Order: sequence, then structure tokens, then C-alpha cells
Amino acid sequence: MSVRAIVLAAGKGTRMKSARSKMLHELCGRPMLWHVLRAVRDAGVADVTVVTSAEVAEYVAGLATGTGGQTIRAVRQEPQLGTGHAVGVALGAMPREDGTIVVLNGDMPLVDAALVREAIEACAGSLALVTVRMPLPSSFGRIVRDGSHVARIVEARDALDDELAIDEMNAGLYAYDERKLRAAIAELRNDNAQAEYYLTDTVGSLVASGLRVVPVPATDARSVLGVNDRVELAAASALLNRRLCEHHMRAGVTIVDPATTYLEPDLTFACDVTILPNTTIGRGTRVGAHSEIGPNARLSNATIGEHVVLTDSVVVDSEIGDFSIVGPWAHVRAGARIGPGARIGNFVEVKKSVLAPGVKAGHLTYLGDTVIGERTNIGAGTITCNYDGTAKHQTTIGADVFVGSNSSLVAPVTLGDGSATGAGTVVIRDVAPGDRVVGNPGRRLPQKEAT
Ligand code: UD1
Ligand code: MG
Repeated sequence: MSVRAIVLAAGKGTRMKSARSKMLHELCGRPMLWHVLRAVRDAGVADVTVVTSAEVAEYVAGLATGTGGQTIRAVRQEPQLGTGHAVGVALGAMPREDGTIVVLNGDMPLVDAALVREAIEACAGSLALVTVRMPLPSSFGRIVRDGSHVARIVEARDALDDELAIDEMNAGLYAYDERKLRAAIAELRNDNAQAEYYLTDTVGSLVASGLRVVPVPATDARSVLGVNDRVELAAASALLNRRLCEHHMRAGVTIVDPATTYLEPDLTFACDVTILPNTTIGRGTRVGAHSEIGPNARLSNATIGEHVVLTDSVVVDSEIGDFSIVGPWAHVRAGARIGPGARIGNFVEVKKSVLAPGVKAGHLTYLGDTVIGERTNIGAGTITCNYDGTAKHQTTIGADVFVGSNSSLVAPVTLGDGSATGAGTVVIRDVAPGDRVVGNPGRRLPQKEAT
């Protein structure tokens, strides 16, 4: 039997006080909606309809469809007349089938696949409703029971005092028999405090038609936390980050302080990686075994080898080879490939450069668009002058070269294997292998014509 999902993501999110849709505010480096779609995908639901505003539709269109065989389509809801109306709009765009439809609020980024699966399995041709016990007061809809059976949901804004005292809440995750959902949505009315069509009213109407609703209690209230404002966003981010840290710690990573270690989904850490405080790691970064990252590091789309020590540094879109030492205060970026066994030290920026094994650049250096051979030593203050004001040029430095402190290498230029420059040399011509050069002649350049 088919299982499809509807994700509700068109709401204005007015409580965020933002020009951007609530769904696109990020937690752990990904939009809120991304996390919900991931849970749905991991629950094995292959067909997802997202009810969206124009802005969110654009985001959904940009998502890779077909990943893991999943189809994601966006359906615009304009105007936004409530969660029940949103489901009606989605159903209008979905061909009729006999099966289960999971409906989730898009603002529950901590929802996990297991809970979605549980709802699907509990549905069995009826309506499974995920419920959660929460401390009062709460803005969540309350589950009103008739004896032991679920009777209806009352929204907090419409609830009477004795209903507000109920601490069993509606999580915002439902699994419906499709035919029953279509029938109940068609009957919704908007005679309530917000003049909206509430999805939650389908519960009472289905019960009135003789259906027995199956409550699915969420054992961990945190997984159904709704994010409605930026305070809740920060709280959910912290919980999600903690969950990611715990996942990696259980898999063999030492995280000295999870509270100041910021991770994104889809990172790869080998065994015995250590992450020191105040470190942010994202965009599919991979770290090899026994490497130590931090304190104060930022890695994004980085591939770090084994036994690397990287402190107080930034590595973006770059690779660091095994046994290399990076930092403190290095900046490696834009497709740089370093090592193995390299040493990139204090205040060194490496951009779009390839450094062979054993290269040392210990202090105060800029290496841009450069290829460097094995064991070469780059003295403190060396700069590759790769930009002439119009274009970028390449510097090629051979193996076993000694570049003296404060050398300026004016690209395009090549220093042959085993060559050397003295301190303060401005290299404007190629240096042959084994040659030694020194000095800064300060030759007179052709002058600009007077205008
Ligand atoms: C909703 C539930 C409430 C539940 C709570 C859990 C209703 C009426 N109430 O309240 O019982 O306890 O979630 O978090 O469903 N949306 C649309 N189109 C609309 C309105 C909303 O797509 O016209 C989307 C929003 O983007 C959001 C979701 O539906 O992702 C829920 O809407 P929201 O306004 O956050 O409802 P709550 O007040 O949180
Ligand atoms: Mg909400």
C-alpha cells in the first residue's frame, strides 16, 4: 500500500519577525525544512508534497529530487488559510490513491525517522496521532479524551480553562488513511479564534463518524518541539547539535565540549578523532583517524587526513594530508591541497595551491596559485604576488627550495629544484635549478604617459 507525505511549510511564521520564511531559518547549517524532509526520507517515504509559500517553493525546487528514489514536489498555498486548508491544497495536487498519508508540520526540525515510521505503522487504515506530554503552559493543541479514547483536539487559543490544564498535546505529526483524510478535509469549517481551517479539527470529525483514533505517544518530547520564534530556534539548534555530537561520540570521536562544538549533518569522522572546544565543522567535512581539530577551528568542505594537528585555523574547500600540522592561525582555502607531513604555521594563508609532502611555511606568508615541491622551506613573510591588478598568475616552486624570509615572488615565476633566495629578495625572473638569488634591484619601470 502506498505511503505518501505532506509537509506543511507555507505558514507565514509571523512569530519569527523575519523577512525570510521560518522554514528557511537554519539549524546546524541546514534550513529547518531540510531536517524534516530528511526524517521523512529516512522513514522510507518516497513521495513528498511540500505545501509552500513562493519563497519556499524556490528552495524545494532547488533540492535534488530523486535522491534515494524520493520525489519532492512543492505546491503553493495562496492565501494561507490554516493547516487544514494547506492539506486540502496538497491533496488537490496529488492523484488519489488508496494508502496512508503522513502529514507533518514543517516546523518540527527535531522529528526523527523512527517516530514517523511509528505513526505510519500505527495508522492501519485509521488515523494515528502523535501525542506528547509537556509542561504547562504551552501553545500546543490539547488532546481531549472521552474516557480513554481520543475525542478531539482543541487549539490553545480556542481552549477553555479546564482544557488548557490538559498536558497531553498534539505533536503535529499524523498518519491518515487517505480516503478518510480527504473526506474530513472537505468538511472543515473556520469558525474558530483564528478564522482558519484547522487540520486538527479532522480528529473530532473522524471520531464523530465512528473512527477510533490511535494515539502514538512520543517518548522524547524534544523530538516534536515546534519552532515558532527565534528563542525556540536557538533551543532546537542546541538540541540538534547535541544529538549530532552524541552520534559521533558514540562512534568513537572525543568531543571535549559539545556545548561549543558546532556540527552539521553528514560529516565523517574516523576513529579517535579529537575535537577541542570552540570548533565549527560543516559541509561534508571528513576527518581521518587520530587527528586533533581545534580549539578554535572552522572547517567547511574540508578533507583532513590522519594524525593531523589543526589548531585555531580555518580550512575551507581544501585538503590536508596525513601527519600535517596546521596553525595556529592559518587560513587554507579555495581548493588548496597540502601535505602529507606539511607544516603550515602562524598567519599563513594558502589559496588554490598544491603543497607536496614535507613543505614548511611556518610564519606570516601568502601562497596563492602556487605549486610547491617536496621538502621546500618557505621563509617567514614570503608572499606570492599572484595578482597584477587584472589577472591571477601561477608560481611554481620546485623541490628542496629554500625561500628566504620576506621574499616576494612576482608571478608568473618559477624557482627550480634546489634553488634559494636570500632574505628580502624580489624575484621577477625564473630561477634555474640550484641557483641562488638575492636582492631587490628596484629597476625603473616604463613610466605612464602624462595625460
Ligand atoms: C500546530 C497545531 C497544534 C500543534 C502544533 C505543534 C493546528 C491548527 N495546530 O499549531 O495543534 O500542537 O502545531 O507544533 O494545526 N502552515 C501552512 N499553511 C497555513 C498555516 C500553517 O502550511 O495556512 C504550516 C506552517 O508553516 C507550520 C505548520 O503548518 O509548519 C504549523 O503551523 P503553525 O502556525 O506553526 O501552527 P501551531 O500554532 O504551531
Ligand atoms: Mg508551529
